[in-house]
Amino acid sequence: MKKQQFISDYTVYEDEKELAAHAPADARLLNQAHEATNNSYVPYSKFHVGAAVRLSNGATVKGSNIENAAYPSGLCAERVALFAAQAQYPGVPIEAIAITACSEITEVIDPVAPCGACRQVMVETEQRSGLPMRIICQGNTGKVFVFDGVETLMPFIFLTKFL
Ligand code: THU
Repeated sequence: MKKQQFISDYTVYEDEKELAAHAPADARLLNQAHEATNNSYVPYSKFHVGAAVRLSNGATVKGSNIENAAYPSGLCAERVALFAAQAQYPGVPIEAIAITACSEITEVIDPVAPCGACRQVMVETEQRSGLPMRIICQGNTGKVFVFDGVETLMPFIFLTKFL
C-alpha cells in the first residue's frame, strides 16, 4: 500500500490588469465573459455566470447561464458557450475559456471555477481537438486563476476510452 499525491499547477494574477500585461488576448476574453453575465437568465439563483471561449480561428463565442423553473433543465454558462462553439464552428479547436460571475445577493470575490459537469464537457472538447484548453477564472473582480488544461482541475477523468 502506498499513498500518492496529485499536484496541480496554476497561475495566479492579482487582477485583470496583471493578466493583460502577460496575456492580453486572455484578458480580452475575460472581459467578454464579464459582458456575458449581462445575458444570464437567473430568476432563481440571482447568480450571473458569464463564459467566453476563443477558438483557434480567432473567433470568440459567449455563453451565459440560463435557468428554468424545472431547475435541472437550466444550463451553466460554460456549457452554453462550449456547445455553441461546437455548433457554430464544428471541428475548430478551442484554445481558452474564461469564466466569471456576479451575484445580485453577494460579492463574488473568489475566482469562479467550473462545476464538475462543465469540466467533464471540457474533457471531451479537449479530446476532440487534441489540445488542452486554458481555463481563466475570476470572480466579479480580484484575482485571476489560470489553469493549463482541464486535467489540472480534475484528476481521474472519465474518458471515452473506458467505454
Ligand atoms: N453555474 C454556472 O453557470 N456555471 C458553473 O460552473 C456553476 C454554476 C450556474 C448554474 C446556476 O444558474 C447558477 O450558476 C447557480 O448555481
